[in-house]
Amino acid sequence: MKNVAVIGSGTMGNGIAHTFAQFGFKVSLIDVSQDALNKGLTTIAKNLDRQVAKGSLTESDKESTLTNITTYTDLKEGVANVELVVEAATENIDLKLKIFKDLDACTSPNTILATNTSSISITKIASVTTKADKVIGMHFMNPVPVMKLVEVIRGYATSDEVAAITMELSKKLNKVPTEVNDYPGFIANRILMPMINEAIYSLYEGVAGVEEIDTVMKLGMAHPMGPLQLADFIGLDVCLSILNVLYDGFGNPKYAPCPLLVNMVTAGYKGVKSGEGFYKYT
Ligand code: CAA
Repeated sequence: MKNVAVIGSGTMGNGIAHTFAQFGFKVSLIDVSQDALNKGLTTIAKNLDRQVAKGSLTESDKESTLTNITTYTDLKEGVANVELVVEAATENIDLKLKIFKDLDACTSPNTILATNTSSISITKIASVTTKADKVIGMHFMNPVPVMKLVEVIRGYATSDEVAAITMELSKKLNKVPTEVNDYPGFIANRILMPMINEAIYSLYEGVAGVEEIDTVMKLGMAHPMGPLQLADFIGLDVCLSILNVLYDGFGNPKYAPCPLLVNMVTAGYKGVKSGEGFYKYT
């Protein structure tokens, strides 16, 4: 496999494009506007600069990575001749279903259709295509160039062959793939989000302050970020939507989002991206 398309040039999409391009793949990066694509490319260049400054990449690796990426605003043009599409658009079910319907119509029958969704059902996404056996979850972690995990999620109808190819491909990106089945939150967010929600409940109930909660988890459990800082980093709106998927999917009150999280998102406090969440970002 040599040619891949990545849909979406936001945080996850540009990280995924960066990583494929760094490991020698030709990447078609697709978004709705050239402005969004340019922003994505600027972020990729900045993150490559960090890797060059740290000595993990050379200046010529940076140049070849950037050369491997071509941008498109037209979906059909961008996915022509690719063997894999990784969709990393906004986490919105209607948008993803529309993209997969379009992909079904404009990719070759053998093209693997992967989604980077953090919690939407792979089986549901696959159901709008005519090739559910070729649809799979390829869930990267933020920041993609740094984090080693790829959660590979098999939908109900994903073929063994497509799962095996996706596992091998992830290893070619120097990642560690882990195969899981398609149930709400998969594994990463089924375990991570209840922890974050419990941290928010601890704050809401006045058990401790923001910094105290994060310090306990950073220094006591050796987490690189405390749960409240991590929630800000992921986006509080994203955390809320994943908790709702868990709550609806299992019908179990233990996944009910904390009212404080609901209030913060409703008021526009979404974490790093909005400038304020549990912490302020200037
Ligand atoms: N691109 C390339 N390199 C990057 C980078 C990026 N976007 N961001 C950081 N780096 C590199 C730095 O250059 C540095 O490299 P060296 O190890 O070679 O020195 C390294 O990563 C660490 O970065 P920093 O020194 O700047 O900062 P740090 O030590 O505080 O680490 C962090 C930053 C890697 C983000 C760390 O805090 C961390 O691991 N946090 C937890 C991240 C996490 O849990 N991610 C998963 C979120 S959940 C998710 O994504 C899925 C979901 O569905 C919600």
